[in-house]
Amino acid sequence: MHNIRKAIIPAAGLGTRMLPLTKVVPKELLPLATKPIIQHIVEEISEAGFEEVILVTNPNKFPLAKHFSRDIEIERKVLKNSTNSFLKDLGQLSNMKIKISNAIQHKALGLGHAILCSKKFIKNEPFAVVLPDMVIDSNKKNSNLALMKKKFEASGNSSLLLDVAKKSEVSKYGIVKVKKLKDSLNSFYIEGIIEKPKPEDAPSKLFAAGRYIFNNEIFKFLLKERPDSQGEIQLTGAISNYVKENPLMGFSLNGKIHDCGNKENYLLANLEFSRKDKNLNKILKKYFR
Ligand code: UTP
Repeated sequence: MHNIRKAIIPAAGLGTRMLPLTKVVPKELLPLATKPIIQHIVEEISEAGFEEVILVTNPNKFPLAKHFSRDIEIERKVLKNSTNSFLKDLGQLSNMKIKISNAIQHKALGLGHAILCSKKFIKNEPFAVVLPDMVIDSNKKNSNLALMKKKFEASGNSSLLLDVAKKSEVSKYGIVKVKKLKDSLNSFYIEGIIEKPKPEDAPSKLFAAGRYIFNNEIFKFLLKERPDSQGEIQLTGAISNYVKENPLMGFSLNGKIHDCGNKENYLLANLEFSRKDKNLNKILKKYFR
């Protein structure tokens, strides 16, 4: 049994595609229906059975950590008025059992570098990486992350969650080369990965969909990774060397993914999440009528 307890949320990026929205407010604090994105993400991790989140932020994104610290004055005031509809969401937040640790990435030197900034919290353990701008709408109790965790605990193999990109969008993501597993429609062996390929160079249309589980070996490859032309240490580079020596599985995503890192998709995701909320749906229906 390979026990996995910790998950990293890299949230130290600058969110430049969403400016000016994200000049002061971290994109992870923008709302999806009644809760900020980061709360949906931490709930997903907590419900999958992890014990600790390592939240990687930069010094300007301190409100992100603050969202998870208790505010007794607010709680007291809101609890007095028990008809308040946001009481449930706030209660969920206050009662969250998961431990939240904060790591700082002082300069946005890439996703791979953000993961390296969490190393002192991970120590020698395996861990998950959950990208907060990739929000997945799926069965809460049996999420993709929960399934990946179970598979890791049984096999000890690292894995990525995969989804199918439109041909025109492959150049936005890490695209994988895969071999299908016998007798399985949803599981693959990953043979390689390329960051943001041109459509004609893409080995498939399957992209890494923001959920990863790694054994500790990945750090060896991250530490060897050199900065790219933008000065960033990329996770994709480390993964493509990792697969040369280690098995890496890919699992098909169940549900729908929303890439909330750009304004257009974020707007649609907010609408879809709001339609799933009984009260907000009533208001939206009335408005659009
Ligand atoms: P993105 O490139 O999608 O996010 O990184 P970004 O850098 O915030 O956004 P743009 O491109 O400027 O609009 C994917 C994830 O990796 C994190 C981001 O916060 C995001 O969750 N990241 C990226 C870091 O934590 N540190 C980095 O240096 C880069």
